[in-house]
Amino acid sequence: MEKIKVLIDCDTGIDDIVALAYALKTERLDVLGVTTVCGNLPVDITTYNTLNALNLMGRNELPLAKGAAKPLERELWDAAYIHGSNGLGGYEFAEKTSKQPEPQPAHEFLYNMLQAQPEPVTIIALAPLTNIALLLQQHPDAREKIQRIVFMGGSLRTGNPTPVATFNVLADPEAAKYVIATKVPFVMCSLDCTRGSFLTYEDLDKVRALHNPVADMVDKVTGFYLESTKAENTVDGQKKGVDIHDLCTVMYVTHPELFEGEHYFADVETKGELTTGFTLVDFEDNLRKPLEDKTVLFLKKVDREKYVEYFLQVLARYQESGR
Ligand code: BDR
Ligand code: CA
Repeated sequence: MEKIKVLIDCDTGIDDIVALAYALKTERLDVLGVTTVCGNLPVDITTYNTLNALNLMGRNELPLAKGAAKPLERELWDAAYIHGSNGLGGYEFAEKTSKQPEPQPAHEFLYNMLQAQPEPVTIIALAPLTNIALLLQQHPDAREKIQRIVFMGGSLRTGNPTPVATFNVLADPEAAKYVIATKVPFVMCSLDCTRGSFLTYEDLDKVRALHNPVADMVDKVTGFYLESTKAENTVDGQKKGVDIHDLCTVMYVTHPELFEGEHYFADVETKGELTTGFTLVDFEDNLRKPLEDKTVLFLKKVDREKYVEYFLQVLARYQESGR
């Protein structure tokens, strides 16, 4: 099977690091490079975490570029209350890397990487869209080189951390609005979808039983995440497991057959008194938009059991050394 070439933009972050563990080991992806942005934590912390994640996962050769330290027009609203003050629920890397980011900022790095590829490339966006908006604002011709953007965010029902907005949109709504309006093919791996992809306590036991350094890291960070997100996605006040939103988003790229979704017109509220960061998705075609405006593939559902099976298979491929 031919590998799918991807660039990954992230704000590592507990679910980001679990998503990276999968993305960097699955045989289905050819990760060309990684970029970081402010989001869950300031960009210096997300960059430190991502550089050390590459080291832990034996992928030090991959280029990494550091991106925006601030949303396009706002101050950073971080998610340390969910991910812990170091972004990884207190997890510390046993070995610290000396690797440094590339000299260019993330959006310039992305542009150069895209230009160097003969065919358009998928961007997996696991964070606020600041870097991607800067890329498209400063290099409109980059659009032709992006096959699609697969983004974690948006929702059909409720949001998080506000009743209607999902974090990656809320943290930089102007960026999300701008990127969607360019009509670049855009996949929204919605909160509804990712909340249906939770890992149960039994699944987490299987992670623990793998006994390799990457699985051990996943075990530790998800332990924290279970606590910090315990009010979310409960049934009768009981938590069924833990939602690893960014992992679900990467899984769509490797296994789209597990997902259900449809194309719609979408936009983002940036000026709402109560609704800033809300992703408006025209589910019932009220706006009668032409087909060429329905550029957002909104993912609603995933086959959870297969998703977990594929994740565990890939995680088991890390050796004792973590490589
Ligand atoms: C998304 O927001 C971030 O906190 C997570 O890393 C994920 O990308 C979930 O809403
Ligand atoms: Ca993230």
